[in-house]
Amino acid sequence: MVERTRKSWLNGAVGYEIYARSFADTTGDGFGDLNGIAEKLDYVKWLGIDIVWLTPIYPSPDHDHGYDVADYKAVRAEHGTVADAEALVERAHSLDLKVLFDIVPNHTSSDHAWFQKAIADPTSPERAMYLFRDPAPDGGPPNNWVSHFGGPAWTLDEASGQYYCHLFVAEQPDLDWRNPDVLDAFDDIYRFWFERGVDGFRIDVAHGLLKHPSFADNPKVSDPGPNAGPLAHFFSYDHKFDMDQDDNVEIFGRWQAIADEYDATLLAESGVTDHHRLARYVGPNALDLSFYLKPGWLEWDPATLIREHLDLAEIEPDGISWVISNHDQPRPVSRFTRSGPFDDTRSATGIARSLAVTTLQMALGGVPFLYYGEELGLVDAAIDPDKRQDPVATRNDSDGGEARDVARSPMPWDSSPFNGFSTTDSWIASEERPLHETVEAQRADESSPVYRYRKLIEARKAMPDMYEADFERLDSPSDEVAVVRRGSVLVIANLSAEEVTVTSAGSDWVLAFASSDGPCAVDASGVTVGPELSVILSAGSR
Ligand code: NOJ
Repeated sequence: MVERTRKSWLNGAVGYEIYARSFADTTGDGFGDLNGIAEKLDYVKWLGIDIVWLTPIYPSPDHDHGYDVADYKAVRAEHGTVADAEALVERAHSLDLKVLFDIVPNHTSSDHAWFQKAIADPTSPERAMYLFRDPAPDGGPPNNWVSHFGGPAWTLDEASGQYYCHLFVAEQPDLDWRNPDVLDAFDDIYRFWFERGVDGFRIDVAHGLLKHPSFADNPKVSDPGPNAGPLAHFFSYDHKFDMDQDDNVEIFGRWQAIADEYDATLLAESGVTDHHRLARYVGPNALDLSFYLKPGWLEWDPATLIREHLDLAEIEPDGISWVISNHDQPRPVSRFTRSGPFDDTRSATGIARSLAVTTLQMALGGVPFLYYGEELGLVDAAIDPDKRQDPVATRNDSDGGEARDVARSPMPWDSSPFNGFSTTDSWIASEERPLHETVEAQRADESSPVYRYRKLIEARKAMPDMYEADFERLDSPSDEVAVVRRGSVLVIANLSAEEVTVTSAGSDWVLAFASSDGPCAVDASGVTVGPELSVILSAGSR
C-alpha cells in the first residue's frame, strides 16, 4: 500500500467556518445563500483565510438546522442550486481559497427517501440501512442510550412495533454503518461533490458512526443533578457502546482514499476528549484532520486551556484543527468572561482572552479555524427566549442555557438595516449589532479586532517555522503559561492574571506579534509578558 503524503495545501493553512444561513442573503428572504457567500469571499481572502467550511447546504426539514439532511446530492432552494455551489467553488478557487462542505453521515433526516422506504416497508433494503431493533422485554427501548438533545435515543415505529436509534432528535435516524449499502451510498455522495470541485468535507459526528454490535447499556458515571440540561444528561454516561468505536477508523481510511484521488481533504468533527483516542482519527490510515472541540467548550480556565493544547499538540503535531468557537457553543468573548451585562470592558477582556488562546493555537501545527464573526470579537447574540429555535432549547424544560442560537445570528457587515446581511428580518430573530461590531467599521480602524486577527494570520504565514519546525515545549514559569519554540520562532501564551518572565528560551528574540496591547519586553533576564497576553517572537539579536 502506498503511504499517503500530507497535502501541500494544508501546510500553514487557516480555516474559517461559515454558518451558511447567516452569512449573506442576496435574495431578500432573510436566509443566507451561496451567491451571498461567493460575494463575500473577497473579505475572507483579505482576512488571510485559505479554507472555508460551509455548514450543511442540503435540502432539510430543519429539525436541527440542516444537520438533518433529506437529500445529500442537492442544494436547498433558499441557499440556491447545485450550479450556484459550483460557481461558489469556482469563485473561491480564483481567489486561491479551498471550499469544504459539511457531510452528515451518522444520521439522515427522517424525510430522506431511504428512511421513508424503511418505515413504509420493513422488508425493504432501506430498512437495513438504519438501526431498527426489537423492544426490551418490558416493551421499552432496547437499551439505556440517550439522545444528545434529550430523552431516549430510541423512538417506537408503531406500525412495526420496533424502535429505531437516533443519537440526536427522532427526526434524525442513525444509519447502520455496518451495512455495506450505506458505505457505498456515501462513497457515491463524496464523489458527486468532488466531481463538482469541492475540496473536502467536515464530517459531522465522525465519532458516532459505528455502534457496538452488542447494543449493551452504557455505564452511568455521574449524576447530572435535577436541573441538568440534555447535554449534561448525555455526558453522565460513559459512551462505551454508542460512540468512538475502534473500527470507525477503517471507514475514515476508506473515505480519505477517495478524497485523495481528488487532492481533497477530510476533517472529523469529533467530540472525543481523550488525546490518544483522538490522535487515531488522523494520519496515514485515517483522515487528514480532526477538530479538537474541547477548547471551544471551556470557560476561562487558564491552566486547563494550556494543558489541553500542549498535551495534544505533543501527541499529534500535524493533524489537529484547533478552535475556540463554532456554531454549537456560546461565542468565546462571552464564554471567556464572567456573566453579567456587556460593557466595553467585559468585551475587551473577552476579545483579548480569545486572541491570546488563538495565538497559541497558531503555533500548534495542523489547521486552526476561526468561526465567522470571531474575528470581529462578536459577543453572543441577544435572542428573545420565546423565539429560540435550537431543538436543545425548544424540546427541553431546562433553562435554555445550552441553546446554541446565540452563536448563529447574521454576520454584521455594516450599519445599514439588518446589518447589511439582508433586506428583511433574518431567519433567526436577533437584535442588530452596534456599529463597532461590523466589518465596515472595523476595516476602517486599524486598531480593531479584525486587524489584530489579520495580523496574527499574516505573522504565521511570514514565519513558516511556526508550523513547520519541530514543536518544543519549553519550561514555563506557571501552568497557566505556555512556552513553545519552533525553530526560529518562540510563542509565549501567558493566560495568567500576572506578568511573567520566561527564562527558558534565552533572550535573543524580537517581538513579531502581540495578541493585545499589553507589555512585552526582552532583556538579559528573558522575555517578560503581561497578563492574558500571547506573543510571537522571532529569533534575532535585540
Ligand atoms: C454536530 C453539529 O455541529 C451540530 O450542530 C448538530 O446538531 C449535531 N452534530 C448533529 O448533527
